[in-house]
Amino acid sequence: MRTQVGIIGAGPAGLMLSHLLHRRGIESVVLESRPRALIEETIRAGILEQSTVDLMVEIGVGERLKREGVIHHGTLLRFNGQNHRIDFEKLTGGRVVTLYPQHEVLKDLIKARLDAGGDIRFEAKVTTIEEAESPQPRLRFTDREGRAQSLECDFIAGCDGSYGVSRPAIPDAKREDYLRIYPFGWFGILCEAPPSAEELVYARHERGFALISSRTPEVQRMYFQCDPNDKVENWSEDRIWAELQARVSGEDGFRLKEGRIFQKNIVPMRSFVCEPMQYGRLFIAGDAAHTVPPTGAKGLNLAVADVFVLDRALGRFYADGSHDLLDAYSETALRRVWRAQHFSWWMTSMLHRFEEAGEFDHRRQLAELDLVTSTVPAATSLAQNYVGMPLG
Ligand code: PHB
Repeated sequence: MRTQVGIIGAGPAGLMLSHLLHRRGIESVVLESRPRALIEETIRAGILEQSTVDLMVEIGVGERLKREGVIHHGTLLRFNGQNHRIDFEKLTGGRVVTLYPQHEVLKDLIKARLDAGGDIRFEAKVTTIEEAESPQPRLRFTDREGRAQSLECDFIAGCDGSYGVSRPAIPDAKREDYLRIYPFGWFGILCEAPPSAEELVYARHERGFALISSRTPEVQRMYFQCDPNDKVENWSEDRIWAELQARVSGEDGFRLKEGRIFQKNIVPMRSFVCEPMQYGRLFIAGDAAHTVPPTGAKGLNLAVADVFVLDRALGRFYADGSHDLLDAYSETALRRVWRAQHFSWWMTSMLHRFEEAGEFDHRRQLAELDLVTSTVPAATSLAQNYVGMPLG
């Protein structure tokens, strides 16, 4: 088997890249280890930056997003028992974010690729990446029937997430990994309840951070900062609601609307970047190359931004044989990646409780939140970073 671009992983990066390349007439094969149903049914987060939405609309996969996505014109920062609104639209000259969960994005992209005759192999596990430094790299994989197969490519795009085979295929001596692990995790729940607020609530409380988000008008997503080694079994429904209510309680009398909890999980928190994002003809994108803590809601948007750059670079190569943009891929993508790393780290440190922090640090945190919610330049900085920079 042969193709122009072999793509490992049918997540946002891999599927978006396959679709973008198809629009240029460049052929790709997507190899995905999981079954299609699992990808489409696992409920994931999804705050889409303005540029992610614009791109999806421009490339013809934004119809359902436009219809079903919920526009958020701002967000609420909650501290000292009160909500403080950051108005994205006003502060950024009309840019907003859209709540449209990642698995819905994936459904739309999978459908678009399959409708156009695209080649996505589900339950196909890539075992090795061979000769990444040569002009003809090769992917070896096991197909759904368990047969060993190989795929010859011009280029390989590693879009297989934090635990895939792509990043380790870059030899240790050729890459630098930058990692920060936070001393806490997020306890996440999905529950059957109406929304408690019209916009997301990021809450700082002495007991720790909490986030009130949403999936649909009937299903809400909420998180609270927890010990990363805690176990979901330790938390009964009653205990979860007591903790969440405590973290958003305050003099304004704000209460969460409660309902049956049908999913609980603990998300670890880390910041990670691998440099460079290229080794020979292997290009890595999305979580394969970097991880952000979820506080800035940047994960999916960064994946899309990476492959936007990669698609242009591959387009240039197939148009006139020039390597310029391919050679610049890592540096171009990393600039945005580090901006998002800084923003996600900053939001995390401003809103979470750190075990080692003393009274001075608490006051400083509150002073920072006061600055961000009461001065236009600081509020604008948060708003601009949250809605994201334009692509390219
Ligand atoms: C979510 O809805 O799961 C979500 C929203 C915003 C974040 C993180 C997660 O910053």
